[in-house]
Amino acid sequence: MVYSNDIKEEVRSRNDIVDVISSYVSLKRSGSNYMGLCPFHSEKSPSFSVSASRQMYHCFGCGASGDVFMFVEQYENYSFVEALKFLAERAGMELPAIEMSPQEKMKASVKQQLFEVQKLAAGYYYYMLHQPQAKNAYDYLTGRGLSEETIKKFGLGYSDAGGQGLYKYLKSKNYSDEILKQAGLFTFDEKKGTYDKFWNRVMFPITNANNKVIAFGGRVMSDAKPKYLNSPETILFDKSRNLFGINYARTSRKNYFIVCEGYMDVISLHQAGFTSAVAPLGTALTPLQAGMIKRYVDTVYISFDSDEAGVKAALRAIPIFKNAGLTAKVINLKPYKDPDELIKACGVEEYEKRIEEAIGSFYFETQVESTRYDLKDPEEKMKFIRQVAGKLITFSEEVERNIYCDAVADRYGIDRKEMKRLVNHLGATQISQGSSGKEKMHSKKVKGNDSDSAMKLPQRILLTWLGDDVTLFEKVKKIIEPQDFKDELYNKAAAILYKQYEEEGKATPVRIPGMFEEGGEQEEVARIFTTDLKGELLRNFGQDSDSELTKEIKERAINQIVYRVKMQSIEDTLRSSTDFDVVKKCGQQKKELQNLHITLNAD
Ligand code: UTP
Ligand code: MN
Repeated sequence: MVYSNDIKEEVRSRNDIVDVISSYVSLKRSGSNYMGLCPFHSEKSPSFSVSASRQMYHCFGCGASGDVFMFVEQYENYSFVEALKFLAERAGMELPAIEMSPQEKMKASVKQQLFEVQKLAAGYYYYMLHQPQAKNAYDYLTGRGLSEETIKKFGLGYSDAGGQGLYKYLKSKNYSDEILKQAGLFTFDEKKGTYDKFWNRVMFPITNANNKVIAFGGRVMSDAKPKYLNSPETILFDKSRNLFGINYARTSRKNYFIVCEGYMDVISLHQAGFTSAVAPLGTALTPLQAGMIKRYVDTVYISFDSDEAGVKAALRAIPIFKNAGLTAKVINLKPYKDPDELIKACGVEEYEKRIEEAIGSFYFETQVESTRYDLKDPEEKMKFIRQVAGKLITFSEEVERNIYCDAVADRYGIDRKEMKRLVNHLGATQISQGSSGKEKMHSKKVKGNDSDSAMKLPQRILLTWLGDDVTLFEKVKKIIEPQDFKDELYNKAAAILYKQYEEEGKATPVRIPGMFEEGGEQEEVARIFTTDLKGELLRNFGQDSDSELTKEIKERAINQIVYRVKMQSIEDTLRSSTDFDVVKKCGQQKKELQNLHITLNAD
């Protein structure tokens, strides 16, 4: 916001991405790219690629993607401005000092100001925690086993009992009531005046993935209710798309996340060295949160409370994780209530052991289900087995289904063949009845996801290719327009790319991700422009990834890809329109597509 685009581009041009990343990751040249071990997930063979020509990186393993700023932001846990300053300094550049007048401040976006307010508030609470009147609060935190280092790392604080301290502090910094009203930290009352919302509580700043404070949770130090008071949702804070601890977990370099219930669990796990622990923000886990996790890892360990509510929450979370493509395992904490308690009682090694012993989500579900029946009673046992068989038929892969089928049979003393027969029988009747309910929805969803990414791959290949090659753009732009990319992000990214070509005569895809929302969108957009072209094209024609990418293959590929993307777009339009003219135009476009013949220039 504060620095101009020119400055950003100047800093970029003085920091070659290969140089910058080389100082963190050992890179080896491989064709036109550089490869190394991905710093954002753990792996044994290199799938992290840095392109000198595109000035972007992409990991084929975990999907991490971006430009030089995003790399530094992710690796160092910096905000964009911090990354900019860091890279400017690295290149020996002096950034213009930016001191904003109150007027300029007014103009700076509301969002920017709200970020500032949250950050100042966190600083204020943190400062207060270290004042004499906060002795109770400080003792409370250390009494719960937190070190000063942990308190600092999570920026824990104290909201004093004065009632107006934070408000006055922020007013002294010239923030308008209009902005403060949107910060979620005060109650404005016409008669009573304005008061701090958090009062005599220990404060837990909630940050987004980029380490920026976006909200707070405040805990009472007694048994009073409510135990936690949380910031309301604001422009910055959407409970459903944030996770407590994500700012640290994402750079933990673990290949799994631990998902627990609350602030204190996350904090004590981090203190114990389990730095990939996260928690939802006082609500049940959402699909958006599962999606966030999937960006970094493929496996989650559920570490919810061992009480009934925790089990219920785990049962609800499992399908959400699975739908996001994550493998979920469940950690048994018994006889302790939560991870915090277990670690305090038995130490780090015991928790490590519990992670190793965590059971797959399917076993967890069957185990919980089994407690609802009296398995000594044959009739009850039969009901239970039918229930389990009903779950087994939702596995779409036969191998997987058989493995679980055998395992369950062994576990509950059922003949393996009998179990298989029951599952197959149940599967057959479901299909002949046209199948209904949950099972069908599940398989539909899985398919939906598959075809979704399958549909997007040609689009990604095409956009990466268009960004790399102006001569191709000239040939393709007549056939494919930005509107042909139906997904909102793809569509916006394509529109910007086309505009760059029109206005500047060349494309600079590396500038595009930075135009999107931080945390998520930027990376998704970076992925669009960092497809492994050579690898994908060769794979498409069944060739080894190290064979030569001939002009002939490229030509066949581009025709196929353009055909597919355009056809998808036409079909999509047809599906959503009954307008005669539109339908007619689509028919015509389809016909033209049959004569598609793009030829490539010699390299
Ligand atoms: P817990 O009660 O388990 O909290 O609620 P905790 O984090 O383990 O805290 P301690 O150990 O009791 O101090 C789990 C989460 O549910 C939300 C908070 O996000 C909390 O971390 N919660 C709980 C609220 O939002 N409000 C409440 O009143 C209670
Ligand atoms: Mn708890």
